[in-house]
Amino acid sequence: MKLFDVYPLYEVTPVRAKDVYIYDNDGKKYLDLYGGHAVISIGHSHPHYIKKIINQLKQISFYSNAIQNPLQNELANVIGEQSCLHDYKLFLCSTGAEAIENALKLASFKTKRKKVIAFKNSFHGRTSAAVAVTDNIKINAPLNQQQEVTFLNFNDEKALQNELATKEYCAVIFEAIQGVGGLNEPSEDFIYAMERLCKEYGSCLISDEVQSGFSRTGTFFAFQKYNINPHIITMAKGMGNGFPVGGILVHPDIKAKHGMLGTTFGGNHLACSASLAVLEVLKKERLQEKTKSLETYFRSKANSLSKIKKIKGRGLMLGLEFDFKVSEIRKKLIYDHYIFTGGSSNENLIRILPPLTIKKKHMDYFFEALEKVLTAF
Ligand SMILES: Cc1ncc(COP(=O)(O)O)c(C=O)c1O
Repeated sequence: MKLFDVYPLYEVTPVRAKDVYIYDNDGKKYLDLYGGHAVISIGHSHPHYIKKIINQLKQISFYSNAIQNPLQNELANVIGEQSCLHDYKLFLCSTGAEAIENALKLASFKTKRKKVIAFKNSFHGRTSAAVAVTDNIKINAPLNQQQEVTFLNFNDEKALQNELATKEYCAVIFEAIQGVGGLNEPSEDFIYAMERLCKEYGSCLISDEVQSGFSRTGTFFAFQKYNINPHIITMAKGMGNGFPVGGILVHPDIKAKHGMLGTTFGGNHLACSASLAVLEVLKKERLQEKTKSLETYFRSKANSLSKIKKIKGRGLMLGLEFDFKVSEIRKKLIYDHYIFTGGSSNENLIRILPPLTIKKKHMDYFFEALEKVLTAF
C-alpha cells in the first residue's frame, strides 16, 4: 500500500534525536530550529521524559475516561501552578485542532450562539470548526464552509465592536502571536478591547495557545504578556514534547455539564505522564526564564545580518523577514548546512521554533550558516 500523498517531503529520514539535534539514516547530524513545528519543548528524548513515560507504560498506559485517573488531576494542578491560572478547569484531548473544536463548541453551548469572529492570517487547524476559523480557503472544503465565520483585521476595534454588537457571536478566537500566519501580533490596546467587548456583548474570548503555549514565548501562555482572562485557552504542541496531547483551560464562569465534551484517548495515562514530565523539566531547568535572554541574543545576532528586513516574534517563537522568498534559503540550510527551520504563509519569513533547551552556541552556528547562504544568494 502507498501513502495518501498530501505532504511535500524533504529528502531527510530522521532515525534518532537528542536534545536539539536530529540524526538521519546516514548518520548526518541536523540542528533542529523547527522543533517539529514548535512541538519539541524540553528537547528531543529528554532522559526524564523517557524515564517517566517508560515507568508509566509498565503500570498502565490507557483506560477510558469512565474511570478515575489521578494523573489528570495532578496535571491540572501543575498546569494551574505553573501558568498561575489556578481557578481555570482542565479538559484534555489529543491534538491542537481537537482543542479548538472543543473550545468553540463550549463557547457555543455557553452562549447558545453559533457565529465566530476570527482574524486574517489565522491558523487554528484542519478539522470542522477549526478549519472554518482558519483564514485559508484552499484547505477549507465545502463541508466546512457551512460554519458562519467573520474574518477581521487585527486592531480594527470599530469592526469588532460592530460585529459583536449584533450579539450573534459565540466567540472571538485569536492567536496572541500568529504561528503559521507569520508571527503577527495584535496590539496591546486591541487585546484589551477584545476582552472588554466580549464581556460587553456576551461572547467568549478564546486564546489559541496551541503553538505559543507552554513557555515558548517567555510567559507560560503568550497572552499573559497582558493582564487578560480569556474564557477558554487552547493548548497542545509543546505540552507533550511529541506525545499527542492537547487540552483546553476553562474560565470558572463557564460551568461543566456531563456529556458536554468527551474523548476516547484524551488525558490517557501515558499522555498525562508525558505532559507532567514536560512541566517538571520546564520548571527544573528554568526554560521559560531562559527564553528571554536567548531572544535578546538572537535579536542581537539577527540585527547584524545582511539583507534582514524585520525580526519578529517573542521568546523562542521567532522569525526573520526578508524582502524576498526564503524557500530556497531554507533548502540550502537543510541540505548544505544541516539545519532545520520553519516556513509560514508569509513566504519571506524564516521561522525559528527550536527546543527550549537551545543554547547561544547553536544560534551562533545558525547565523554563520545563514550569512554564508545569504552572501551566495
Ligand atoms: C495556533 C494553532 N492552532 C491550532 C493548530 C492545530 O493543531 P494540530 O495540528 O495539532 O491539530 C495549530 C497547528 O499548527 C496551530 O499552530
